Amino acid sequence: MDRRQLIQRVVMGTTALVLVPGLITSCEKSEYRPTDPIPKGPVIKNDLKIDISQNEYAVLASAGGSKVVSGIIIVNTGTNGFVALSASCTHQGTQVSYNSNSNNLQCPSHGSVFSLTGAVVEGPAVVALKTYTVSKSGNILTISE
Ligand code: FES
Repeated sequence: MDRRQLIQRVVMGTTALVLVPGLITSCEKSEYRPTDPIPKGPVIKNDLKIDISQNEYAVLASAGGSKVVSGIIIVNTGTNGFVALSASCTHQGTQVSYNSNSNNLQCPSHGSVFSLTGAVVEGPAVVALKTYTVSKSGNILTISE
């Protein structure tokens, strides 16, 4: 091994020592974790009014029906009336859906589950969904902060 080969090996070895820890760090950063910032749900400046007698919202007229409107998932719970929550999973923002069999909200991305109060039932999400107030007058639902 001449002097030139020795210098090349030293330089390559030093480069490998610098890059390998960087690669390991990158793998650790790819683990699931809450997004930053965590999706907080839409802000309603003016009340959101929905006429459930219209075809577009007719699914909400029946117990177990649900629909996402303007980033808010509205659920007809039957005996307990209606609930409205942010439809964005607090883990990484995927839209949740209502499962009438288990009576909860589920995220298809990584399996988080939320109760109808917004509480986390199962992670990886760790933050509750934002909830909204719902009132009903005739066929009109009013959703507000
Ligand atoms: S985005 Fe990951 S569990 Fe919902």
